[in-house]
Amino acid sequence: MDYRRTYLKDLLAGTAGTRADAYGWVKTRRDSKEVSFVQMNDGSCFADLQVVIPHGTLPDETLKKVTTGACVRFSGELVASQGGGQSIELRADEVEIFGPADAQTYPLQKKGASWEFLREIAHLRARGNTFGAVFRVRARASYAIHKFFNDRGFHNIHTPIITASDCEGAGSMFGVSTLIDATSPHNPSATLKSKDFKDDFFGKPAFLTVSGQLEAETLALALTNVYTFGPTFRAENSNTSRHLSEFWMIEPEMAFCDLEGDMNLAEEFLKEVIQDVMDHCRPDLEFFNQRIEPELLQTLDHVVSSPFERVTYTQAIDWLLQSGESFENAVEWGMDLQSEHERWLTEKKVGRPVILTDYPKDIKAFYMRLNDDNKTVRAMDVLAPRIGEIIGGSQREERLDVLERRIVEMGLPKEAYWWYLDLRKFGSAPHSGFGLGFERLLMYVTGMKNIRDVIPYFRAPQQADF
Ligand code: 4AD
Ligand code: MG
Repeated sequence: MDYRRTYLKDLLAGTAGTRADAYGWVKTRRDSKEVSFVQMNDGSCFADLQVVIPHGTLPDETLKKVTTGACVRFSGELVASQGGGQSIELRADEVEIFGPADAQTYPLQKKGASWEFLREIAHLRARGNTFGAVFRVRARASYAIHKFFNDRGFHNIHTPIITASDCEGAGSMFGVSTLIDATSPHNPSATLKSKDFKDDFFGKPAFLTVSGQLEAETLALALTNVYTFGPTFRAENSNTSRHLSEFWMIEPEMAFCDLEGDMNLAEEFLKEVIQDVMDHCRPDLEFFNQRIEPELLQTLDHVVSSPFERVTYTQAIDWLLQSGESFENAVEWGMDLQSEHERWLTEKKVGRPVILTDYPKDIKAFYMRLNDDNKTVRAMDVLAPRIGEIIGGSQREERLDVLERRIVEMGLPKEAYWWYLDLRKFGSAPHSGFGLGFERLLMYVTGMKNIRDVIPYFRAPQQADF
């Protein structure tokens, strides 16, 4: 057996009259008078392969073991399909059962399982239609993202996962420590070896990164255009359908680029990645369109072909104030927009993605470039219908004196950012970047309603299974 293999998608596109081996997992088996029908899938495409076994071809005892969930190889001849729904099927004369699955206890039964239940069997859910489609789209989108940047001369860099600095300055970081005397996840009682960080692994507090941005900036000021695509971690107690404790973020960073250029890249990027997925995952998206989000395909087409609306935060606040809507959270200049406001702007007011710019400095991070009004910063958030914020970015503060002042104003320790400040001392340049939450993009593209269902294994407060 070799990794080189004919996938079921190739068999389905094959020609009748050739012999073929089909490897995969059984979805269903149905026995009629003269033949048995098996639907099987190997994850290579949305469609299942139908295998037809004329009775008498294979021993009954063996056929009985071909149950939902079993892992098998069927060999036989590809023939034109009699039934509707597929053009090619396999007429099998040989079967090998790699792993049977007890029909009584196999957890992934055909219909009716709740999303919650499927999260509890995350190790098996990818064998079903929905999650197979989700993870194929996820893989394709990841590839499209690398391709997008590669085509434009961006260098892919790897920023650290363990870090000693807080990029967002929000203090919602997971600590990384060996002071806790729990050497394995199977040891439930933990004791503290020392209360002094000098005794800790790194000799000082260390954390899981919330963003690779600060390090990406240092590389942009050497390699010009760079991006990082990696896991990021947030220890916020946000139990919502849009928040994960561990999510993947794509962060481009560009020297000699202002906010205008940053927005242009963000828009081009979203459109190209969505178009790529539409071109390469059509059957998966058609399934989402049919079963998960009505009009998904129409919406994505519209997003790709129309310009995003660009407005200032101040303008958006005026729109919200004049909307006549009664929001749960009252609208006033200076507030952070809540999901209800974002939804009204994107869904009711504009009807497509909106880029909001120039937010009040007090609700944004220290590194964003201060505007001349001294009240707002060169920030931009891309808001998408259904999802809300999908991208957050800014032009960075490149002026040493202003940046130092902002760090102090925000109550952050200047010393910790010495290397970041060095960038402004030695060869500083105007530069910009943004972060796209990969799972938020996937929610948008698939129409899936909960962010926990677009990542193979989700992490959320009180939940880290598998
Ligand atoms: O707006 P955020 O916090 O921005 C940054 O981290 C910047 N340092 C990015 C940059 O400029 N390089 O996060 C960026 C994006 C958000 O717009 C959202 O899509 C996603 O990351 N995001 C989350 N996704 C899932 N779960 C969470 N808890 C998320 N927090 C942010
Ligand atoms: Mg943000």
